[in-house]
Parts: sequence; C-alpha cells; structure tokens
Amino acid sequence: MKKIFIDNFKRKPEEYFWSPGRVNIIGEHSDYHDGFVMPVAIDLGITWSVSKNGDNVRGYTEKFDEIGRFRIDAKDRTYFEWMLYLQGVVEVLKKRNKKFGGIDFAIHSTIPIGSGLSSSSSLATGFAYILNEIYKIGLGRKEIAKVACEAEWWYGTTGGIMDQYCIANGKAGNAVLLDCRKMTHVYVPIPKDIKMVIFETTIRHKQISSPFALRKKQAHEAVEVARQYFKDDKIKMLRDITKKMLEEIKPSIIKKFGKRKGEMIYRRSKHPIYERDRVLEMKEALMKDDLRKIGKILAECHKSLRDNYEVSCKELDIAVDISQGIKGYIGSRMIGGGFGGCTLNLVKRGQEHHFAGEMEEIFRKRTEIKGNSYICNSSDGVRKIPNNK
Ligand code: GLA
Repeated sequence: MKKIFIDNFKRKPEEYFWSPGRVNIIGEHSDYHDGFVMPVAIDLGITWSVSKNGDNVRGYTEKFDEIGRFRIDAKDRTYFEWMLYLQGVVEVLKKRNKKFGGIDFAIHSTIPIGSGLSSSSSLATGFAYILNEIYKIGLGRKEIAKVACEAEWWYGTTGGIMDQYCIANGKAGNAVLLDCRKMTHVYVPIPKDIKMVIFETTIRHKQISSPFALRKKQAHEAVEVARQYFKDDKIKMLRDITKKMLEEIKPSIIKKFGKRKGEMIYRRSKHPIYERDRVLEMKEALMKDDLRKIGKILAECHKSLRDNYEVSCKELDIAVDISQGIKGYIGSRMIGGGFGGCTLNLVKRGQEHHFAGEMEEIFRKRTEIKGNSYICNSSDGVRKIPNNK
C-alpha cells in the first residue's frame, strides 16, 4: 500500500485505513421500508493509504489504474465516475457546515465491483470515516453511515442505510441486526460451524438503471391503502403493516389498482412485510445454531425475492439451485440489490473449499459462465490500521 501511494504521489502516506464490504444474511430490500436487516462486514474490502492535501481530493485506484481528482469547492461533478461517491461525501459534509480539507489516497480493493458486496458503500463510508478522523470532524459511527448513505443518494442511487451502517459498525464474529427505523443495532454471534461462501455470477447490475426505485415505489403503494382502510395515520411505512393486516387489505389493493396491477402491488409489499419476520426468526435460529431452520429461512427469502419482489435473474436462480445439491450446504439466496451479482451460501465448516470449487464447476457447465467463489469471514467495521508493508 505504501508503495503504490509513493509511486503516484511522490511522498509518503501518513495513515492507513481499512473499510470492509458486506453481505446481508437476511432482511433484503427491507432497509428503505424501515424494516430490520442483518448484514455482516466481511474480510473483502478496501485498504487505504492517505495523506492530507490542501483543497484537493486525489485518489489512485489499482482497479482502473488512474488518479481521479476533484476540488473540494468544485461546482461541477467530477469526470471520474468512481470518485463521485467521494464527491458526494464532500458535498454532504459541506451541507452540514463541517470544516475539512482534501486528501491524497491510494486504494487496493478486493471487493468485486457491481456484484452486490457493497464496493461503492465501502468507498463512501471509508472516505467519510477517513475525513472524519484526519480532520477531527467529530462524527460518531452512526453519523458517518448517514453521511455515506446521503452521499450515495447525491450520486443518484436510492438504496437504504444498511450497507453503510454495517460497514461503519461491523464486528468480527457477528452479524449486525439493525432496526432501520430506530437506527439501533444488536450484535448476533455467527455460529462457529458456519462458513460463508459468496458466489459471484458475474452478471452485473447497475443500481441507477435497475428497476430498484420502481420496486420501492410499487411496494410502498400498499401503505396508503392500509392507512385508509385502518383509518390510522400512524401507518407510514411497510414496517407498520403486519402479515395479517396485509392479507386483510388485499381486496382493497385489488379494488384500487385492478386485478393485474393490484396483485403485483400485493406481491411487492408482501416481500418486505414477510421479510421483517424472517429477520427476527433468523436471530433465534442463529442463537440456537439451528442449521435446518437457517437454511429454510434463506430459501424462503430467495423465493420471495424471485417471485414477489422480482429482483432475481436466471443466473442467480441457477446458482441457488446448484448449491442445494452440494455437500456442506446449509442455505443459499441471492443478496444485495439484485438483477445479477452474488448469492450467499452458508456452508458447514470444513466443507467450504469443496463447496466453493463445486459451485464454480457446476455453474460453468450449466450456464457456460465462469463465476467466482469467495470464501469469506466476518470482519470489524471501518478502522485505522497499522502499516505493515
Ligand atoms: C442495495 C442497497 C441497500 C439495500 C439492498 C437490498 O444494496 O444499497 O441499501 O436496499 O440493496 O437489500
């Protein structure tokens, strides 16, 4: 890390940081409906070497082998696409009247881009944390997550707070059970006999152009129906609707939108409502180390993302299907925004290497696509690290 910094900026870096990627065990497409999520920070991530630099942000990434830059007081968006997340952080901090300067940095990332492992949130959250540390802005980890989330909205995506919160607050050995409404979390220990194998289909999603925002809007339509039906203004988000309430308002949804659209709206809202209960059930299952139950919850989640929220794709479904036949399988589902990216496979410890190899081989035979398996461990959240290289 030190060397790539010196090669590009002709001086020594002052400090080093680490920002992880994340996988979400359960609670998909739930954060922006105010629900519960249960992500884990992982040991695929970004290593940063940084130094202060007057009013400029200049960054070198090995991924594109280029130095991107922008001025802190720039009026226009930087031309370097990947730097926009960082410019977003700067804009959000400026809006909050924070005082800070620029930095030079070099990064090395092990997170595959656009795969649903939060490479962009790791960038935004990592950068917000670093500015906060170096310029002593005084933000806590929750606030850092919010700044990074808003920075991504500035960039143009419409996701929730899950990724940034997890990257800011992750803890090795644990999942972060986050209540997205209250913005509070508890740690749920991951049983020692479970290993995580990420399978990357290599089908890429782009969140801005994906139907992500549309899903959010469609699912949310049920809220207005419920508010009118129950004559309750406290119903503000899908979080406020129970499974029972949803079934009760189904005829009203169909009456309002017609059969075809009404059934679609019902299915869209059904996913986050049922998912909320799955997160709480998963907490119990993990605490009891109930592998059968864990697998069942993951399978239900995948099915709902595929059939209700409709954010899966052929390759993700094939990957989940294949996983079920491999030794060591506990459970599997697509993760992240969807329309490509990765599946998460929970696998019995000791079987992970065999499992990872089989996934790649069988997937290639069935799809003629070379997918990639990553065996990963949980990690702490964003933090300062000593330089050892
Ligand atoms: C993306 C978003 C997250 C979350 C997931 C789906 O990763 O950035 O906030 O909404 O999709 O669970």
